[in-house]
Amino acid sequence: MHRILILDFGSQTTMLIARRIRELQVYCEIWPCTQSVEAMRHWQPSGIVLSGGPASVYDADAPPCPDVFGLGVPVLGICYGMQAMARQLGGAVAAGTTREFGHAQLRLTPEQSPFLHGIDADAPVWMSHGDHVTLLPPGFVALAHSRDGALAAMGHAEKHLYGVQFHPEVVHTRQGLQLLQGFVRSICACPPQWTMASFVQTAVAAIRAQVGAGHVLCALSGGVDSSVTAALLQRAIGPQLHCVFVDNGLLRQGEAADVERILGAGLGIELHTAKAGDRFLAALSGISEPEAKRKIIGGLFIDVFEAALVELGRPCAFLAQGTLYPDVIESHSFRGPSATIKSHHNVGGLPTRLRMQLVEPLRELFKDEVRVLGRELGLPASLVQRQPFPGPGLAVRVVGEVTPQRVKLLQSADAIVRQEIEGWAGHVDLWQYFAALLPVQSVGVMGDARTYESTCAVRAVTSTDGMTADWADIPRAVLARISGRIINEVRGINRVVYDISSKPPATIEWE
Ligand code: XMP
Repeated sequence: MHRILILDFGSQTTMLIARRIRELQVYCEIWPCTQSVEAMRHWQPSGIVLSGGPASVYDADAPPCPDVFGLGVPVLGICYGMQAMARQLGGAVAAGTTREFGHAQLRLTPEQSPFLHGIDADAPVWMSHGDHVTLLPPGFVALAHSRDGALAAMGHAEKHLYGVQFHPEVVHTRQGLQLLQGFVRSICACPPQWTMASFVQTAVAAIRAQVGAGHVLCALSGGVDSSVTAALLQRAIGPQLHCVFVDNGLLRQGEAADVERILGAGLGIELHTAKAGDRFLAALSGISEPEAKRKIIGGLFIDVFEAALVELGRPCAFLAQGTLYPDVIESHSFRGPSATIKSHHNVGGLPTRLRMQLVEPLRELFKDEVRVLGRELGLPASLVQRQPFPGPGLAVRVVGEVTPQRVKLLQSADAIVRQEIEGWAGHVDLWQYFAALLPVQSVGVMGDARTYESTCAVRAVTSTDGMTADWADIPRAVLARISGRIINEVRGINRVVYDISSKPPATIEWE
């Protein structure tokens, strides 16, 4: 199999390199730079990419560059990766007099290189570095400079070793994808073979090999990851799959019915729904503190789930989980788990408690690949395009005490927000959009009568990963329709406000 190995030196954009190479339909993995060269040789990559990183190659604690240059496969060093390559092969790196951050323009040298084939002589690129290569290693030629004369690209054609000082993986480098394509396709000779159809075939075989005649349990939440996991397992092992769906009464309007219709009736998955809305709402009665709500819901989820297993009456040796590739990379990063990334594992405590072996068929995929896979497996767009939704559900959007009436109010208002925003073409660029019900009552007039009713906040944000977010610029006309419809159609809400806070300092959810 043709595949590319990306060695991570700690750059913020390493994951993007992998995304771009997967877009080129070539399989790739990110490994920490501390892995042994022997393991890399054994993996048989068709090419290696050295990522950028925040260190200087001369720092005492600079991440080491493994000696991959003798493996006989093409290597592309990006930023820190280029500097590490230059230094290791006998060149020199120095701190520049000026740092280069942001947009820059290349100036290609007259050297003819297959690496920069088709790249414009003055292509705009994105730089982010202090150090630069001041002496080429023996056998290398300069392929491009930036305007101030610093080396921007170098190559050794016979050995297929290349380096770029800029970041081809970010969109600001306009021909970045083309450049990566040149490396991956022409220099590493990888054909576009990584497709979802081929993934399904391999994943189905791997699931069958792992579980044999065993039975697999899958906790469905109604979200994209667990639904796609279930659909893939259904394809692989059909009757050996048992899904439990805990309907906690805190889902969006129509969502529980959708799960049963699409996954149960549609895909024929054996689905056991534990209708536990009353239990969850009773347990939440009188509780307004956000963390207390989350703890109650998490604990009760496990109780309800375990009771559903007893009812199912079928011992399962395996538990399926929708772990994705970013979680996997994060957990084996050479820096250790990042302090900034929150993990929201809704079924986190289950595997150890239930002593089951994990089946994680999505652990090689990025979120958008999971959506493509979902479509490949026959799931409708309404499910595969679903927005991220917090595990504790609407309980963290009913700010303050959660009562059945307040959940209903929020479900009605939220359905209107979603319908109206989805009627606007710009909604495809949004990360999330929803309503939150505030614990604020205010005075209004309706007809001749005075009202004293609840306030609803509309939240719509753009984001790439949920870690930071900006409030979305929704057209006034859309906001006007949302407000008009909520106030007219949802009895109990007389005021609608738009949340204009970014994250940080606010969070996306209200609790
Ligand atoms: P915040 O509110 O922290 O949310 O800015 C960031 C992203 O995470 C989602 N979120 C959760 N997802 N379980 C989840 O699976 C949770 O408990 C949870 N809490 C927040 C939130 O919707 C946003 O996309």
